[in-house]
Amino acid sequence: NTGMFTYDPGFTSTASCESGLTYIDGDAGVLLHRGYPIGQLAEQSSFMEVCYLLLNGELPSAKELADFTNTITRHTMVHEQLTAFFRGFRRDAHPMAIMVGVVGALSAFYHDSTDINDPEQRRIASHRLIAKMPTIAAMAYKYSVGQPFVYPRNDLSYTANFLNMTFSVPAEEYKIDPIVVDAMDKIFTLHADHEQNASTSTVRLAGSSGANPFACIAAGIACLWGPAHGGANEAALNMLREIGTVDRIPEYIARAKNKDDPFRLMGFGHRVYKNYDPRATVMQKTAKDVLEKLGVNDPIFDVAKELEQIALNDPYFIEKKLYPNVDFYSGVILSAIGFPTEMFTVLFALARTVGWVAQWNEMISDPAQKIGRPRQLYTGPTQRDYVAVDKR
Ligand code: SDX
Repeated sequence: NTGMFTYDPGFTSTASCESGLTYIDGDAGVLLHRGYPIGQLAEQSSFMEVCYLLLNGELPSAKELADFTNTITRHTMVHEQLTAFFRGFRRDAHPMAIMVGVVGALSAFYHDSTDINDPEQRRIASHRLIAKMPTIAAMAYKYSVGQPFVYPRNDLSYTANFLNMTFSVPAEEYKIDPIVVDAMDKIFTLHADHEQNASTSTVRLAGSSGANPFACIAAGIACLWGPAHGGANEAALNMLREIGTVDRIPEYIARAKNKDDPFRLMGFGHRVYKNYDPRATVMQKTAKDVLEKLGVNDPIFDVAKELEQIALNDPYFIEKKLYPNVDFYSGVILSAIGFPTEMFTVLFALARTVGWVAQWNEMISDPAQKIGRPRQLYTGPTQRDYVAVDKR
Protein backbone atom coordinates (compact mmCIF):
# COMPACT_ATOMS: atom_id res chain seq x y z
CA ASN A 1 0.00 0.00 0.00
CA THR A 2 2.66 2.44 -1.07
CA GLY A 3 0.20 4.60 -2.94
CA MET A 4 2.08 3.80 -6.11
CA PHE A 5 1.01 2.54 -9.50
CA THR A 6 1.75 -1.11 -10.28
CA TYR A 7 1.58 -2.75 -13.68
CA ASP A 8 0.07 -6.21 -14.00
CA PRO A 9 1.32 -8.48 -16.85
CA GLY A 10 -1.37 -7.01 -19.07
CA PHE A 11 0.23 -3.61 -18.60
CA THR A 12 -3.11 -2.24 -17.45
CA SER A 13 -2.19 0.34 -14.83
CA THR A 14 -4.04 0.05 -11.54
CA ALA A 15 -3.39 2.49 -8.77
CA SER A 16 -2.59 0.19 -5.88
CA CYS A 17 -2.95 2.18 -2.74
CA GLU A 18 -4.61 1.22 0.49
CA SER A 19 -5.91 4.21 2.41
CA GLY A 20 -8.48 4.63 5.14
CA LEU A 21 -8.89 8.38 4.81
CA THR A 22 -11.34 9.04 1.99
CA TYR A 23 -13.77 6.88 0.07
CA ILE A 24 -15.23 7.95 -3.30
CA ASP A 25 -17.92 6.14 -5.28
CA GLY A 26 -17.71 8.00 -8.60
CA ASP A 27 -20.79 6.35 -10.09
CA ALA A 28 -22.99 7.08 -7.08
CA GLY A 29 -21.46 10.49 -6.33
CA VAL A 30 -20.45 9.50 -2.78
CA LEU A 31 -17.56 11.07 -0.81
CA LEU A 32 -16.78 9.96 2.76
CA HIS A 33 -14.00 11.15 5.06
CA ARG A 34 -13.25 8.39 7.60
CA GLY A 35 -16.81 7.16 6.92
CA TYR A 36 -18.60 10.51 7.32
CA PRO A 37 -20.46 11.94 4.27
CA ILE A 38 -18.99 15.20 2.97
CA GLY A 39 -22.41 16.87 3.00
CA GLN A 40 -22.84 16.23 6.74
CA LEU A 41 -19.29 17.39 7.51
CA ALA A 42 -19.71 20.59 5.44
CA GLU A 43 -23.07 21.45 7.04
CA GLN A 44 -22.50 20.29 10.65
CA SER A 45 -18.75 20.19 11.32
CA SER A 46 -15.90 22.73 11.02
CA PHE A 47 -12.65 22.71 9.07
CA MET A 48 -10.59 22.36 12.28
CA GLU A 49 -12.72 19.36 13.30
CA VAL A 50 -12.35 17.80 9.82
CA CYS A 51 -8.58 18.32 10.07
CA TYR A 52 -8.57 16.42 13.36
CA LEU A 53 -10.76 13.67 11.83
CA LEU A 54 -8.50 13.22 8.78
CA LEU A 55 -5.33 13.18 10.90
CA ASN A 56 -6.58 11.00 13.76
CA GLY A 57 -9.38 8.86 12.27
CA GLU A 58 -12.12 9.85 14.72
CA LEU A 59 -14.17 12.97 15.45
CA PRO A 60 -12.67 14.74 18.49
CA SER A 61 -14.25 15.30 21.88
CA ALA A 62 -14.77 18.96 22.78
CA LYS A 63 -11.51 18.93 24.76
CA GLU A 64 -9.56 17.17 21.99
CA LEU A 65 -10.83 19.74 19.48
CA ALA A 66 -9.93 22.63 21.79
CA ASP A 67 -6.42 21.25 22.37
CA PHE A 68 -5.88 20.58 18.64
CA THR A 69 -7.13 24.05 17.68
CA ASN A 70 -4.90 25.62 20.32
CA THR A 71 -1.87 23.74 18.96
CA ILE A 72 -2.58 24.83 15.40
CA THR A 73 -3.17 28.43 16.52
CA ARG A 74 0.25 28.51 18.20
CA HIS A 75 2.03 27.46 15.03
CA THR A 76 0.52 30.10 12.73
CA MET A 77 3.47 32.51 12.80
CA VAL A 78 6.27 32.01 10.27
CA HIS A 79 9.98 32.72 10.80
CA GLU A 80 10.58 36.42 10.15
CA GLN A 81 13.36 35.49 7.70
CA LEU A 82 10.73 33.83 5.49
CA THR A 83 9.41 37.28 4.54
CA ALA A 84 12.64 37.83 2.58
CA PHE A 85 11.61 35.15 0.08
CA PHE A 86 8.59 37.20 -0.97
CA ARG A 87 10.73 40.19 -1.90
CA GLY A 88 12.51 38.10 -4.51
CA PHE A 89 9.30 37.86 -6.55
CA ARG A 90 7.95 40.51 -8.90
CA ARG A 91 4.75 42.04 -7.53
CA ASP A 92 2.79 40.53 -10.41
CA ALA A 93 4.06 36.99 -9.76
CA HIS A 94 1.18 34.48 -9.72
CA PRO A 95 0.46 33.66 -6.04
CA MET A 96 0.77 29.94 -6.81
CA ALA A 97 4.36 30.52 -7.99
CA ILE A 98 5.00 32.21 -4.65
CA MET A 99 3.36 29.35 -2.73
CA VAL A 100 5.49 26.71 -4.45
CA GLY A 101 8.65 28.69 -3.67
CA VAL A 102 7.91 29.78 -0.12
CA VAL A 103 6.41 26.48 1.11
CA GLY A 104 9.39 24.68 -0.37
CA ALA A 105 11.62 27.13 1.50
CA LEU A 106 10.07 25.99 4.79
CA SER A 107 12.29 22.93 4.35
CA ALA A 108 15.29 25.14 5.02
CA PHE A 109 13.84 26.13 8.38
CA TYR A 110 12.57 22.74 9.57
CA HIS A 111 14.45 20.09 7.56
CA ASP A 112 16.99 19.42 10.34
CA SER A 113 14.34 19.06 13.01
CA THR A 114 12.01 16.73 11.09
CA ASP A 115 13.01 13.10 11.50
CA ILE A 116 10.20 11.50 9.48
CA ASN A 117 10.73 8.21 11.30
CA ASP A 118 9.67 9.84 14.56
CA PRO A 119 5.86 9.95 14.86
CA GLU A 120 6.01 12.94 17.20
CA GLN A 121 8.15 14.94 14.73
CA ARG A 122 5.81 13.93 11.89
CA ARG A 123 2.91 15.21 13.98
CA ILE A 124 4.63 18.52 14.65
CA ALA A 125 5.55 18.94 10.96
CA SER A 126 1.92 18.24 10.02
CA HIS A 127 0.64 20.83 12.49
CA ARG A 128 3.23 23.38 11.27
CA LEU A 129 2.09 22.95 7.67
CA ILE A 130 -1.65 23.17 8.45
CA ALA A 131 -1.04 26.20 10.66
CA LYS A 132 1.32 28.14 8.41
CA MET A 133 -0.43 27.71 5.07
CA PRO A 134 -3.03 30.44 5.82
CA THR A 135 -0.28 32.84 6.93
CA ILE A 136 1.80 32.21 3.79
CA ALA A 137 -1.30 32.34 1.54
CA ALA A 138 -2.35 35.68 3.04
CA MET A 139 1.22 36.97 2.66
CA ALA A 140 1.20 35.96 -1.03
CA TYR A 141 -1.98 37.99 -1.51
CA LYS A 142 -0.68 40.98 0.46
CA TYR A 143 2.57 40.97 -1.55
CA SER A 144 0.67 40.90 -4.84
CA VAL A 145 -1.43 43.96 -3.88
CA GLY A 146 1.45 45.88 -2.30
CA GLN A 147 -0.01 45.91 1.21
CA PRO A 148 1.95 45.15 4.42
CA PHE A 149 1.83 41.64 5.82
CA VAL A 150 -0.65 41.17 8.68
CA TYR A 151 0.45 38.94 11.55
CA PRO A 152 -1.74 36.07 12.77
CA ARG A 153 -3.91 36.69 15.84
CA ASN A 154 -4.41 33.99 18.46
CA ASP A 155 -7.79 35.35 19.50
CA LEU A 156 -9.34 34.46 16.12
CA SER A 157 -10.51 31.12 14.74
CA TYR A 158 -8.42 29.45 12.02
CA THR A 159 -10.62 30.72 9.20
CA ALA A 160 -11.33 34.17 10.67
CA ASN A 161 -7.59 34.58 11.25
CA PHE A 162 -6.91 33.82 7.58
CA LEU A 163 -9.52 36.32 6.41
CA ASN A 164 -8.12 38.96 8.77
CA MET A 165 -4.52 38.40 7.59
CA THR A 166 -5.77 38.67 3.99
CA PHE A 167 -8.08 41.67 4.12
CA SER A 168 -7.11 43.73 7.19
CA VAL A 169 -4.96 46.83 6.61
CA PRO A 170 -3.23 49.03 9.21
CA ALA A 171 -5.51 51.91 8.31
CA GLU A 172 -8.72 49.93 8.78
CA GLU A 173 -9.58 46.79 10.74
CA TYR A 174 -11.26 44.10 8.62
CA LYS A 175 -14.86 43.54 9.74
CA ILE A 176 -15.07 39.79 10.31
CA ASP A 177 -18.51 38.73 9.03
CA PRO A 178 -19.73 35.37 10.43
CA ILE A 179 -21.46 34.68 7.10
CA VAL A 180 -18.15 34.97 5.28
CA VAL A 181 -16.28 32.94 7.91
CA ASP A 182 -18.88 30.17 7.70
CA ALA A 183 -18.76 30.07 3.90
CA MET A 184 -14.94 30.07 3.83
CA ASP A 185 -14.84 27.31 6.45
CA LYS A 186 -17.25 25.21 4.35
CA ILE A 187 -15.09 25.75 1.26
CA PHE A 188 -12.00 24.62 3.19
CA THR A 189 -13.86 21.49 4.35
CA LEU A 190 -15.03 20.71 0.80
CA HIS A 191 -11.42 20.80 -0.43
CA ALA A 192 -9.74 18.99 2.51
CA ASP A 193 -8.99 15.64 0.89
CA HIS A 194 -10.01 13.66 -2.16
CA GLU A 195 -8.40 10.20 -2.27
CA GLN A 196 -5.52 9.71 -4.72
CA ASN A 197 -5.94 12.78 -6.95
CA ALA A 198 -2.97 14.03 -8.96
CA SER A 199 -1.52 16.35 -6.30
CA THR A 200 -1.98 13.84 -3.47
CA SER A 201 -0.29 11.16 -5.57
CA THR A 202 2.53 13.66 -6.17
CA VAL A 203 2.92 14.19 -2.43
CA ARG A 204 2.94 10.43 -1.83
CA LEU A 205 5.50 9.80 -4.59
CA ALA A 206 7.78 12.57 -3.32
CA GLY A 207 7.34 11.39 0.28
CA SER A 208 8.11 7.76 -0.63
CA SER A 209 11.74 8.74 -1.25
CA GLY A 210 12.03 10.06 2.31
CA ALA A 211 11.97 13.72 1.28
CA ASN A 212 10.92 16.08 4.08
CA PRO A 213 7.19 16.88 4.25
CA PHE A 214 7.64 20.59 3.46
CA ALA A 215 9.29 19.76 0.12
CA CYS A 216 6.59 17.13 -0.55
CA ILE A 217 3.79 19.63 0.03
CA ALA A 218 5.54 22.12 -2.28
CA ALA A 219 5.50 19.40 -4.95
CA GLY A 220 1.77 18.90 -4.34
CA ILE A 221 1.14 22.64 -4.71
CA ALA A 222 2.98 22.64 -8.04
CA CYS A 223 0.83 19.77 -9.35
CA LEU A 224 -2.41 21.30 -8.06
CA TRP A 225 -1.73 24.49 -10.05
CA GLY A 226 -2.58 22.84 -13.38
CA PRO A 227 -5.92 23.92 -14.98
CA ALA A 228 -6.99 20.28 -15.29
CA HIS A 229 -6.73 19.97 -11.50
CA GLY A 230 -6.87 22.68 -8.84
CA GLY A 231 -6.29 25.46 -11.35
CA ALA A 232 -9.78 24.77 -12.68
CA ASN A 233 -11.46 26.99 -10.09
CA GLU A 234 -9.61 30.05 -11.43
CA ALA A 235 -10.24 28.91 -15.03
CA ALA A 236 -13.95 28.26 -14.33
CA LEU A 237 -14.66 31.78 -13.10
CA ASN A 238 -12.62 33.28 -15.95
CA MET A 239 -14.71 31.15 -18.34
CA LEU A 240 -18.00 32.31 -16.74
CA ARG A 241 -16.86 35.92 -16.98
CA GLU A 242 -15.86 35.43 -20.63
CA ILE A 243 -19.32 33.96 -21.38
CA GLY A 244 -20.76 36.95 -19.54
CA THR A 245 -24.44 36.52 -20.36
CA VAL A 246 -26.86 33.61 -20.60
CA ASP A 247 -27.47 34.12 -24.33
CA ARG A 248 -23.79 33.32 -25.08
CA ILE A 249 -23.87 29.91 -23.35
CA PRO A 250 -24.86 27.85 -26.46
CA GLU A 251 -21.71 29.08 -28.26
CA TYR A 252 -19.51 27.72 -25.48
CA ILE A 253 -21.46 24.47 -25.15
CA ALA A 254 -20.90 23.92 -28.88
CA ARG A 255 -17.18 24.62 -28.49
CA ALA A 256 -16.91 22.16 -25.57
CA LYS A 257 -18.48 19.45 -27.76
CA ASN A 258 -16.25 20.18 -30.76
CA LYS A 259 -13.42 17.65 -30.82
CA ASP A 260 -11.28 20.03 -32.89
CA ASP A 261 -11.61 22.76 -30.27
CA PRO A 262 -9.33 22.38 -27.20
CA PHE A 263 -11.88 24.33 -25.14
CA ARG A 264 -13.25 22.45 -22.13
CA LEU A 265 -16.06 23.52 -19.81
CA MET A 266 -13.96 24.37 -16.77
CA GLY A 267 -15.42 23.07 -13.53
CA PHE A 268 -17.10 20.23 -15.45
CA GLY A 269 -16.12 16.58 -15.67
CA HIS A 270 -13.98 14.41 -13.44
CA ARG A 271 -11.62 11.44 -13.62
CA VAL A 272 -13.67 9.59 -11.02
CA TYR A 273 -17.13 11.17 -10.65
CA LYS A 274 -19.46 10.02 -13.42
CA ASN A 275 -22.28 11.52 -11.40
CA TYR A 276 -22.77 14.81 -9.60
CA ASP A 277 -19.72 15.73 -7.45
CA PRO A 278 -21.28 15.86 -3.95
CA ARG A 279 -19.05 18.82 -3.16
CA ALA A 280 -20.57 20.79 -6.03
CA THR A 281 -24.03 20.29 -4.51
CA VAL A 282 -22.94 21.91 -1.24
CA MET A 283 -20.96 24.56 -3.11
CA GLN A 284 -23.97 25.67 -5.19
CA LYS A 285 -26.16 25.91 -2.06
CA THR A 286 -23.44 27.87 -0.25
CA ALA A 287 -23.05 30.22 -3.22
CA LYS A 288 -26.81 30.93 -3.20
CA ASP A 289 -26.81 31.51 0.59
CA VAL A 290 -23.75 33.75 0.62
CA LEU A 291 -24.81 35.93 -2.31
CA GLU A 292 -28.27 36.40 -0.74
CA LYS A 293 -26.93 37.15 2.76
CA LEU A 294 -24.22 39.49 1.46
CA GLY A 295 -26.70 41.14 -0.89
CA VAL A 296 -24.41 40.44 -3.84
CA ASN A 297 -26.17 40.19 -7.17
CA ASP A 298 -23.54 38.63 -9.41
CA PRO A 299 -24.90 37.82 -12.90
CA ILE A 300 -22.10 35.22 -13.17
CA PHE A 301 -24.05 33.00 -10.74
CA ASP A 302 -27.05 33.06 -13.07
CA VAL A 303 -24.78 32.19 -16.00
CA ALA A 304 -23.33 29.28 -13.98
CA LYS A 305 -26.76 27.91 -13.05
CA GLU A 306 -28.09 28.21 -16.61
CA LEU A 307 -24.96 26.64 -18.08
CA GLU A 308 -25.28 23.76 -15.65
CA GLN A 309 -28.92 23.17 -16.62
CA ILE A 310 -28.20 23.29 -20.34
CA ALA A 311 -25.20 20.95 -20.04
CA LEU A 312 -27.01 18.46 -17.77
CA ASN A 313 -29.77 18.15 -20.39
CA ASP A 314 -27.45 17.96 -23.38
CA PRO A 315 -27.05 14.44 -24.90
CA TYR A 316 -23.27 14.92 -25.29
CA PHE A 317 -22.70 15.67 -21.61
CA ILE A 318 -25.16 12.97 -20.57
CA GLU A 319 -23.41 10.39 -22.73
CA LYS A 320 -19.94 11.46 -21.49
CA LYS A 321 -21.27 11.59 -17.89
CA LEU A 322 -20.01 15.12 -17.34
CA TYR A 323 -21.27 16.95 -14.25
CA PRO A 324 -20.17 20.06 -12.35
CA ASN A 325 -17.25 19.38 -10.01
CA VAL A 326 -15.99 21.11 -6.89
CA ASP A 327 -14.47 23.92 -8.98
CA PHE A 328 -17.59 25.02 -10.82
CA TYR A 329 -19.26 27.20 -8.19
CA SER A 330 -16.42 27.88 -5.74
CA GLY A 331 -15.19 30.90 -7.68
CA VAL A 332 -18.58 32.62 -7.45
CA ILE A 333 -18.34 32.53 -3.65
CA LEU A 334 -14.65 33.47 -3.47
CA SER A 335 -15.24 36.40 -5.80
CA ALA A 336 -18.17 37.60 -3.66
CA ILE A 337 -15.92 37.43 -0.57
CA GLY A 338 -13.34 39.60 -2.35
CA PHE A 339 -10.61 37.24 -3.59
CA PRO A 340 -9.08 37.84 -7.04
CA THR A 341 -9.19 34.77 -9.33
CA GLU A 342 -5.40 34.34 -9.00
CA MET A 343 -5.92 33.44 -5.32
CA PHE A 344 -8.51 30.69 -5.94
CA THR A 345 -6.06 27.81 -6.35
CA VAL A 346 -4.02 29.12 -3.41
CA LEU A 347 -7.14 28.64 -1.27
CA PHE A 348 -7.54 25.14 -2.68
CA ALA A 349 -3.90 24.38 -1.70
CA LEU A 350 -4.45 25.86 1.78
CA ALA A 351 -7.41 23.56 2.38
CA ARG A 352 -5.88 20.47 0.72
CA THR A 353 -2.76 20.67 2.91
CA VAL A 354 -4.49 18.65 5.65
CA GLY A 355 -5.32 15.91 3.12
CA TRP A 356 -1.80 15.90 1.76
CA VAL A 357 -0.18 15.65 5.21
CA ALA A 358 -2.69 13.04 6.40
CA GLN A 359 -2.03 10.90 3.31
CA TRP A 360 1.73 11.43 3.71
CA ASN A 361 1.57 10.38 7.37
CA GLU A 362 -0.50 7.31 6.50
CA MET A 363 2.11 6.24 3.95
CA ILE A 364 5.25 7.05 5.99
CA SER A 365 3.91 5.37 9.13
CA ASP A 366 3.52 2.07 7.25
CA PRO A 367 6.72 0.09 7.86
CA ALA A 368 6.12 -1.85 4.62
CA GLN A 369 6.10 1.23 2.40
CA LYS A 370 8.81 1.41 -0.28
CA ILE A 371 9.96 4.13 -2.66
CA GLY A 372 7.51 4.73 -5.48
CA ARG A 373 8.79 3.51 -8.84
CA PRO A 374 6.08 3.49 -11.55
CA ARG A 375 7.02 1.37 -14.58
CA GLN A 376 6.26 2.08 -18.27
CA LEU A 377 5.12 0.45 -21.49
CA TYR A 378 8.26 0.90 -23.66
CA THR A 379 7.44 2.19 -27.15
CA GLY A 380 10.92 3.25 -28.31
CA PRO A 381 13.33 1.52 -30.78
CA THR A 382 14.66 -2.00 -30.10
CA GLN A 383 18.40 -2.29 -29.31
CA ARG A 384 20.75 -1.10 -32.09
CA ASP A 385 24.51 -0.35 -32.48
CA TYR A 386 26.10 3.09 -32.37
CA VAL A 387 26.93 4.71 -35.76
CA ALA A 388 29.90 7.11 -36.03
CA VAL A 389 28.92 10.63 -37.10
CA ASP A 390 30.74 10.35 -40.47
CA LYS A 391 28.65 7.29 -41.29
CA ARG A 392 25.18 8.74 -40.53
C1 SDX B 1 -10.20 18.49 -9.58
O1 SDX B 1 -8.94 13.74 -9.18
C2 SDX B 1 -9.52 14.50 -8.27
O2 SDX B 1 -10.05 14.04 -7.28
C3 SDX B 1 -9.40 15.99 -8.54
C4 SDX B 1 -10.22 16.89 -7.63
C5 SDX B 1 -9.72 16.91 -6.22
O3 SDX B 1 -10.50 17.25 -5.32
O4 SDX B 1 -8.49 16.69 -6.02
O5 SDX B 1 -11.58 16.49 -7.66
C6 SDX B 1 -10.15 18.36 -8.11
O6 SDX B 1 -9.19 18.51 -10.19
C7 SDX B 1 -11.54 18.52 -10.26
C8 SDX B 1 -11.42 18.58 -11.82
C9 SDX B 1 -11.13 20.04 -12.18
N1 SDX B 1 -10.83 20.19 -13.62
C10 SDX B 1 -11.69 20.79 -14.45
O7 SDX B 1 -12.81 21.17 -14.14
C11 SDX B 1 -11.14 21.02 -15.84
C12 SDX B 1 -12.21 20.64 -16.86
N2 SDX B 1 -12.41 19.20 -16.78
C13 SDX B 1 -11.67 18.40 -17.74
O8 SDX B 1 -10.43 18.89 -18.10
C14 SDX B 1 -11.79 16.93 -17.44
O9 SDX B 1 -13.08 16.66 -17.08
C15 SDX B 1 -10.87 16.26 -16.44
C16 SDX B 1 -9.44 16.60 -16.69
C17 SDX B 1 -11.25 16.67 -15.05
C18 SDX B 1 -11.05 14.81 -16.65
O10 SDX B 1 -10.70 14.58 -17.99
P1 SDX B 1 -10.90 13.16 -18.63
O11 SDX B 1 -10.13 12.17 -17.86
O12 SDX B 1 -10.68 13.21 -20.11
O13 SDX B 1 -12.45 12.92 -18.34
P2 SDX B 1 -13.30 11.81 -18.95
O14 SDX B 1 -12.48 10.62 -19.31
O15 SDX B 1 -14.45 11.62 -18.03
O16 SDX B 1 -13.83 12.49 -20.32
C19 SDX B 1 -14.82 11.82 -21.06
C20 SDX B 1 -14.99 12.61 -22.33
C21 SDX B 1 -13.68 12.87 -23.05
O17 SDX B 1 -14.00 12.92 -24.43
P3 SDX B 1 -13.69 11.60 -25.33
O18 SDX B 1 -12.21 11.32 -25.21
O19 SDX B 1 -14.54 10.49 -24.71
O20 SDX B 1 -14.11 12.01 -26.72
O21 SDX B 1 -15.53 13.91 -22.02
C22 SDX B 1 -14.62 14.91 -22.48
C23 SDX B 1 -13.28 14.25 -22.63
O22 SDX B 1 -12.52 14.90 -23.62
N3 SDX B 1 -14.61 15.92 -21.42
C24 SDX B 1 -15.03 17.17 -21.58
C25 SDX B 1 -14.85 17.78 -20.33
N4 SDX B 1 -14.33 16.89 -19.48
C26 SDX B 1 -14.17 15.74 -20.17
N5 SDX B 1 -15.54 17.82 -22.64
C27 SDX B 1 -15.87 19.11 -22.43
N6 SDX B 1 -15.73 19.79 -21.26
C28 SDX B 1 -15.22 19.13 -20.19
N7 SDX B 1 -15.08 19.79 -19.04
